[in-house]
Amino acid sequence: MNPEMKLSEDRQKESEDKKKPFIIAHISDMHAGSQYFVPNLMDRAVIELNELKPNVVVSTGDLTNEGFKQEYLLAKSYLDKIQCENLLLVPGNHDARNVGYVHFEELFGSRQAICHRDGISIVGVDSSEPDLDYGTIGRHRYKWIAEQFSAPADLRIFLLHHHLLPIPGTGRERNMVYDAGDTLEVLQDCGVNLVLSGHKHVPYAWRLENIFAVNAGTVCTLRLRGKVRPCYNVIEIGDDEVTIWRKYPFHDADQIIKFNPSTVAFEKSAHPYRGPAA
Ligand SMILES: [Fe+2]
Ligand SMILES: [Fe+2]
Repeated sequence: MNPEMKLSEDRQKESEDKKKPFIIAHISDMHAGSQYFVPNLMDRAVIELNELKPNVVVSTGDLTNEGFKQEYLLAKSYLDKIQCENLLLVPGNHDARNVGYVHFEELFGSRQAICHRDGISIVGVDSSEPDLDYGTIGRHRYKWIAEQFSAPADLRIFLLHHHLLPIPGTGRERNMVYDAGDTLEVLQDCGVNLVLSGHKHVPYAWRLENIFAVNAGTVCTLRLRGKVRPCYNVIEIGDDEVTIWRKYPFHDADQIIKFNPSTVAFEKSAHPYRGPAA
């Protein structure tokens, strides 16, 4: 082949690759072992994820319902079917029940997650406490978080199970991160653009100063509030725009929020607990 032609093909491929968005699939709250766990929903989600081929899959906790080893093995059997080389996991309050965190560490390794890839920094921490439902980050970890985010990046994403901001449509507010205020300030100082959480089983998005805090629903359980349906989130990161969808396994998808990380301008859609328009 003519070397010039080859070069122009390479350039074309390079520019096509540039335009391709970086995709993060965000699943949460599998609750394997729960009476509300629906295997078929998880099977569907796995099939969709393997078709989607995201760059990264994140799971923000409550893999299990009681932290039992057999529940962890069940959860792992599904996660093992996801064909993505970057799978980032943090535990949830249910995973920390019954000293379940030892199984988490044995099966998945560290309870914190770090990934720096294609200009995107993702850092996750374990916000759970043994046998308690509330979340905490803790002063001793603020410096560590800042160090992980100190590398140059176009977009910084923080993962934790619990919510840092209250979620509407979830009844009485409880289990929010105890040191949410201090944590939010640390994240703001670190230049974090996006916080991904689970726990409330309600997909929702807030903007606070320069941070977008986006929750995922429960991917495969019927532990649901109001009219919310089982779903996971898909995050499309383009050059100047981040678009986040909730995807209902084998059904439709709708947009939660679209934002520009530089200007922090955003567009948010209606809350899912209100259900479709009558
Ligand atoms: Fe949960
Ligand atoms: Fe939870």
